[in-house]
Amino acid sequence: MWPRRRSSPRASRLRECIVEGCGLGGYNGRFSLQINPQAKVVMSMKIAVIGGDGTGPEVVAEGVKVLEAVAKIEGFSYELTHLDWGGDRLLKTGEALPEDGLEQLRKFDTILLGAVGHPEVAPGILERKLLLDLRFGLDQYINLRPVKLFPGVETPLKDKGPDDIDFVVVRENTEDMYCGAGGFMHKGTPNEVATQTAIYTRKGCERCIRYAFEATQKRNNPKGKRLTLVAKTNVLTTGHDLWWRTFQEVAPDYPDVETDYNHVDACCMWIVKNPEYYDVIVTTNMFGDIITDLSGIIQGGMGVAAGGNINPEPGGVSMFEPMGGSAPKYTGTGKINPIATINAVSMLLDQAGQTAAAERVMSALMQVTATKMKSQNAGKMGFSTSEVGDLVVDALV
Ligand code: IPM
Ligand code: MG
Repeated sequence: MWPRRRSSPRASRLRECIVEGCGLGGYNGRFSLQINPQAKVVMSMKIAVIGGDGTGPEVVAEGVKVLEAVAKIEGFSYELTHLDWGGDRLLKTGEALPEDGLEQLRKFDTILLGAVGHPEVAPGILERKLLLDLRFGLDQYINLRPVKLFPGVETPLKDKGPDDIDFVVVRENTEDMYCGAGGFMHKGTPNEVATQTAIYTRKGCERCIRYAFEATQKRNNPKGKRLTLVAKTNVLTTGHDLWWRTFQEVAPDYPDVETDYNHVDACCMWIVKNPEYYDVIVTTNMFGDIITDLSGIIQGGMGVAAGGNINPEPGGVSMFEPMGGSAPKYTGTGKINPIATINAVSMLLDQAGQTAAAERVMSALMQVTATKMKSQNAGKMGFSTSEVGDLVVDALV
């Protein structure tokens, strides 16, 4: 067991170095796309496709177009089942998904999700029913968010490029304030009390931390394998103490990985100032939600960022999604960017052990961002949604 300190001496030195602004410098290489430690090869994938709300179905159509093309080239087969779950279904039938929805999904190898959020449905309903219930019900306890600035994509960070913005956030996905534990007393009165409890379990943090260590090993960053725990141990002295102790206890099993710790507020500053510092971050559900939006914008915004809700256990069903939301005002206009969904398809393929296909999609996508697209913002791409899909397909060969 380590002495009770906040990071290893080497990590502290590195942090001082970063604070002084010298960074790590020198490295221009790229490392493996394959970061999912438990990827398994699925030869004939059964894929559930939930287009969802707003522009979800449009971007998913482009993801499927790319999937179809890469399957032909790489020679694997798959079977798609489209599910009409989402806001429209809720308005028509009173339920966003059928009662046996989870059972249905358990029969698939993987899920591609478009977007959740309908302008006529109050906030919180579809998020809980369609997204969070699936994450919890399928025990997708990892939210994997690669943060990679693709070539040709603009970042709001001055003087930073693709070599600087390339890290991964492993966010715990089934605990914390997302559990929905809490309630009201004296609701609607001046004496109202509301509680929303953050729940952390030893099992929940340990499995997430172990996954993150394994992902760090697998990613094998030539700059050095470093896992940064992001939490708030100076204030959340019970729940995040559990995270901190678990991190320390598990770390000796991964001696080749340098361990590091940031408080979440400091992490937000460093993501902006020195994103090149990070290799893999592991964090709690709520903090992970926030820092992945911050990270999303430095990688070019929500038109680009993708994530995986992963159940890494044998037989686990994972779900991949673009991070952009349903953007209802763009529905049917052909203006929305499908790059994030195509990125999610690459992650899905990686998870299914189709590494060559995953890499082929990723390099086609980067070719398109680098040489064709004017911008990653909706309506400013220089192409329509389906033209961007076609460009990626053309770049696959
Ligand atoms: C995300 C989203 C969701 C979350 C919302 C839509 C419930 O922001 O996947 O990051 O908070 O997890
Ligand atoms: Mg979020």
